[in-house]
Amino acid sequence: MTMKTTHLLLIAAASLTFSGAAFAADSGNAENGKKLFLRSCYECHGTTGMGAGAVGAKLAPNPIPVEGFIAELRHPRQAMPQYSPSVISDAEIADIHAYLATIPEGPKVKDIPILDSIGKDKK
Ligand code: HEC
Repeated sequence: MTMKTTHLLLIAAASLTFSGAAFAADSGNAENGKKLFLRSCYECHGTTGMGAGAVGAKLAPNPIPVEGFIAELRHPRQAMPQYSPSVISDAEIADIHAYLATIPEGPKVKDIPILDSIGKDKK
């Protein structure tokens, strides 16, 4: 096998792994994820993952890709406790991710008249 073919095969394998993980994220069970999140994560991240005012980071809306999610739980960057696969499986993390993906975005400031009007009368 030439170097070039090996390289192409590696790229193909990598993209297969990636789409596999993306599929797992989409197929996560949001209802189970909500239960798990409200049991293990909400104290630091807030009940809807909003993070604000809590210890942990903001996780929703628009959670980071599920690969990053799993990586943070297995190897936390700083203050977050570490979760081993025996405590919470990849499938359970995918469920939590699916729950956070259901959190809707809040309205924009321009869509809330009283907030949108602030400062405008002074012009
Ligand atoms: C004791 C508080 C605490 C608990 C409990 C906790 N976290 Fe965290 N989490 C944090 C902190 C603090 C960070 C910021 C990064 C760090 O310190 O590692 C974080 C970061 C994250 C991130 C990375 C966010 C980003 O944008 O990089 C993810 C994903 C995450 N937490 C998911 C979870 C999940 C899922 C659970 C429940 C299984 C959980 N956390 C439980 C404190 C917590």
